[in-house]
Amino acid sequence: MTRTEPPSFPPDFLWGFATASFQIEGATHEDGRGPSIWDTFCATPGKVANGDSGAVACDHYHRWRDDLDLMQRLGAQAYRFSVAWPRVIPSGSGTVNAKGLDFYDRLVDGLLARGIEPHATLYHWDLPQPLQDAGGWPWRGIVEPFAAYADAVTRRLGDRVRSYATLNEPWCSAHLGYDFGEHAPGLRDRALALQASHHLLLAHGSALPAMRTNAPGALHGIVLNLYPAYPASDAPEDAAAAHRFDGFFNRWYLEPLLLGRYPSDLWTAYGAAAPTVEDGDLGVIAQPLGFLGVNYYSRFVVAADPGPEGLTLAPPADAERTEMGWEVYPQGLTDLLVRLERDYPLQPVYITENGAAYRDELVDGHVDDPARIRFLELHFEALRQAIALGVDVRGYFAWSLMDNFEWAHGYGKRFGLVHVDFDTLVRTPKRSALWYADMIARQRAGAEAATA
Ligand code: FCB
Repeated sequence: MTRTEPPSFPPDFLWGFATASFQIEGATHEDGRGPSIWDTFCATPGKVANGDSGAVACDHYHRWRDDLDLMQRLGAQAYRFSVAWPRVIPSGSGTVNAKGLDFYDRLVDGLLARGIEPHATLYHWDLPQPLQDAGGWPWRGIVEPFAAYADAVTRRLGDRVRSYATLNEPWCSAHLGYDFGEHAPGLRDRALALQASHHLLLAHGSALPAMRTNAPGALHGIVLNLYPAYPASDAPEDAAAAHRFDGFFNRWYLEPLLLGRYPSDLWTAYGAAAPTVEDGDLGVIAQPLGFLGVNYYSRFVVAADPGPEGLTLAPPADAERTEMGWEVYPQGLTDLLVRLERDYPLQPVYITENGAAYRDELVDGHVDDPARIRFLELHFEALRQAIALGVDVRGYFAWSLMDNFEWAHGYGKRFGLVHVDFDTLVRTPKRSALWYADMIARQRAGAEAATA
């Protein structure tokens, strides 16, 4: 295999890793943490593959120092983690649990001591169970507790954190959680999901003012999972279907956040399922953002269909796929970023997640994962192209630092650049981690030479 030189990125571009609290921390009953909807979901038979749970996960709650050392050895410049709401406010609203905040306080100082920039996400899906019992995201009463939680975290961590994202992937919270039943809390109701999406966005906007006051030097934004949608053919019906699908996934979030309105075509199509929106809500949602976090994994190819949704997914038969069945389509990252820049008043972008699951095996103490290296290499090149075309991308976080609890797939899908043996919890950097470390080192050396 010929080894291509790494593409060159702006000198201050940041390379890092991403994780999420429930996927790595474990220690679900420790130091006053309350139950989350994911604990409940894992305990419900048939919901998570293999009956897996987050009770131990990667045991990061106890091994965080070693994990930070490992990241430092790999040369990470930034780390995106999430804060567990049920640690900080165990019943969702009301009393703050100091021990919960202490954990993240130590984590942030530990990152800074190792020269790694902390990037925090406040909500990566581990909703305190009592708030779900009260109605969850479809309930408007959830907005105020989220804002109070965001206030508590940012008050404590302040400007030591470089960026705060309110939410990770609200589409997933709303649709996987309340529409398709695949994620906690496992409901199946389109109207509930759309109402949830509105309250997620409203919670985001309602949290921002206190966040800005508490951490005036940090960037405040949100993380969206965006999937470019391509028509399956030149037929106008397929183009219309792709546009609708793009609306369902992407525009439903981008437009309220960045343009202050819901897309009218979808609003009409949703009919009675469209959410209740009160006067002033869109003004709360559409506040200036310090950054937009983009999670990019794949694309969708969409065709018109006579069925109830009016469309169907039509991936090319010869598509290269990851272990999740997701098509490897790096060009989609370039197309997506260029389109965001073209269609929206865009703030600086971070690629807050990108990565791939493969069937990795530990053999003689090594994990050889050439497919992941290739995946990363192709996506870095796609990213470099978007930057060359003028998109202001400031950093890249590989999903994920280490193999972890992949939601409904349990521990069966390995996204890590570091292998985790879930019996012994031993971490072993895969070849991709060493390759990434080498690339970061060369980018840093190039950046230093450029600014010397
Ligand atoms: C994203 C999630 C992240 C991880 C990756 C594979 O949708 O944000 O937690 O599960 O997918």
